[in-house]
Amino acid sequence: MDRFEKIRENGHATILAIETSCDETAAAVVRDGRQVLGNVLFSQIEIHKKFGGVVPEIASRNHVEKLPYIVSEAMERAGVTFSDFDAIAVTYGPGLVGALLTGVSYAKALSFANDIPLVAVNHMEGHLSANFITYPDLEPPFICLLVSGGHTMIIEVSDYCSYRLIGTTRDDAIGEAFDKVARVLHEPYPGGPNVERLALQGDPEKYRFSIPLKNEVTYDYSFSGLKTAVINLVRNSESRREEISREDVAASFQKVAIDHLLDPLLRYAKTSGNRKIVIGGGVSANRYLRDTVEKMFGSDYEIYFPALSYCTDNAAMIGSAAFYTIMKGGKEAGLDLNAKPGLEI
Ligand code: KG4
Ligand code: ZN
Repeated sequence: MDRFEKIRENGHATILAIETSCDETAAAVVRDGRQVLGNVLFSQIEIHKKFGGVVPEIASRNHVEKLPYIVSEAMERAGVTFSDFDAIAVTYGPGLVGALLTGVSYAKALSFANDIPLVAVNHMEGHLSANFITYPDLEPPFICLLVSGGHTMIIEVSDYCSYRLIGTTRDDAIGEAFDKVARVLHEPYPGGPNVERLALQGDPEKYRFSIPLKNEVTYDYSFSGLKTAVINLVRNSESRREEISREDVAASFQKVAIDHLLDPLLRYAKTSGNRKIVIGGGVSANRYLRDTVEKMFGSDYEIYFPALSYCTDNAAMIGSAAFYTIMKGGKEAGLDLNAKPGLEI
């Protein structure tokens, strides 16, 4: 019998989760998809900062070095041993292929050595599931907006693990645009929080960047033109040796980016009739986004954002997604599990 069948029968599972899709080496122990018993993360931000962004090979090497210690610490904090695990979960995509492979290989080794079934998790389902940890009573159906360094999408979530893609970016993700704008403003990696900090002191009406796709009726996104407009403005001013307020540029960019992000979401929410909106991914940490959602959607909607510690990459959200993958009929992954850098939801 499939070992996940037993979990589905009794409805409980303690899961060790591993996440290495980008530059965070992370492990967590999660019970029944909602309860985090131990959650440990080694952020490589300081390592990649001097390069102005993530260097994939350096990320992989650091994962290989840190993984055993991060997993041991998560287990120690949770007070568990391998015999307590019903499954080992690992992110197998989307992400940097080399970085993903370190986690996948390590999880396979642990699964084989300890005879514990392996479950493969989609990183974006993890970001969505961060909300299940933050809100113990949250259940589908809802509309989900995922905003990270690699993705910007609206998804209709009819049940756990049942998704319909409504809109997605045609080029850059919103997080990527924040990172590139930060770079041209000479702010360190990762850019999002630094653009947000600068924007707090700036005038959002100073520069009128045009709203992307404003002449189209679509739920899709496009951030590449906006990003280029900001980069050109700053570079042209610098080359003419004109004074430019970095704060005003940051605030003006952020306003247009968030307006563009929320317009299709609001339009879709109105047509779908679903009043529950769940937001996840690194950019969901942004305070201006949170405040604007509050203002725009008001009390007509129930709005959910993850706790700040679960917005950016972590393994607890992978442990949560793994539980629902199993409960909804997911199969054990074999030892031939491979990384899928372009995995879709
Ligand atoms: O979800 P995440 O940790 O990794 C991916 O799956 O991509 O998201 C990272 C992205 C980066 O682009 C980062 O700049 C952005 O999320 N980010 C933010 C904020 N915090 C992180 N963007 C805007 N405001 C923030 N406070
Ligand atoms: Zn992520």
